[in-house]
Amino acid sequence: MPDSLDLIAQEIASCTKCPLHQGRTNTVPGEGPATSDIMLIGEGPGFYEDQSGRPFVGASGRFLEELLQGIGLSREMVFIGNVVKCRPPENRDPAADEIAACKAYLDRQIETIDPKVIVTLGRFSMARWFPKARISKIHGQPRRFGSRLVVPMYHPAAGLRSPKVKEEIVLDFNQLPALIDQVKSWGEPPQDDAEDPDSDDPVQLSLF
Ligand code: URA
Ligand code: SF4
Repeated sequence: MPDSLDLIAQEIASCTKCPLHQGRTNTVPGEGPATSDIMLIGEGPGFYEDQSGRPFVGASGRFLEELLQGIGLSREMVFIGNVVKCRPPENRDPAADEIAACKAYLDRQIETIDPKVIVTLGRFSMARWFPKARISKIHGQPRRFGSRLVVPMYHPAAGLRSPKVKEEIVLDFNQLPALIDQVKSWGEPPQDDAEDPDSDDPVQLSLF
């Protein structure tokens, strides 16, 4: 059977691969069309996400919806997910071993959707592509990984805490339509270029 977002979500629903399963009310696999051009990847479920089983439904989610609206999109048009699919207790940061345990689900979601642009929201999802980077230095700067661009951005919650960060997020978000057009203009990659852009050890084909 080919992989699908539903199948991945089903497996997540019964996952016990890390201790976060113990405190969850619902798993939050993420949601959006399998054909999304954009994937937004946050950190992990908070209180409301854990209650509802849906990503970004609290205050950060409302801001995210505003940001999407600003570029003519709605949340239904993009895939929204997280690095870990179960809520860390007291909203603490996800631990390295929890992120590692959950990584295969995100890998499969990325492979299934094959988005043109991945937006990392906050440092935990940024770290997968930019392991040593500082978000204040590299936010808004797209980098090509294989057949797509990955753009690190601040987490919306950081924008809600700081008006200055909020301005930066809006500016970074407003680049997204042009970045999608850019990736579309690349066309099909040559056959012998078909490396896995999301392997553990991604090769950067070109630097911006
Ligand atoms: N913050 C996140 O990182 N993810 C969510 O789903 C909600 C808030
Ligand atoms: Fe499984 Fe991920 Fe939940 Fe851990 S956070 S129990 S790895 S789904």
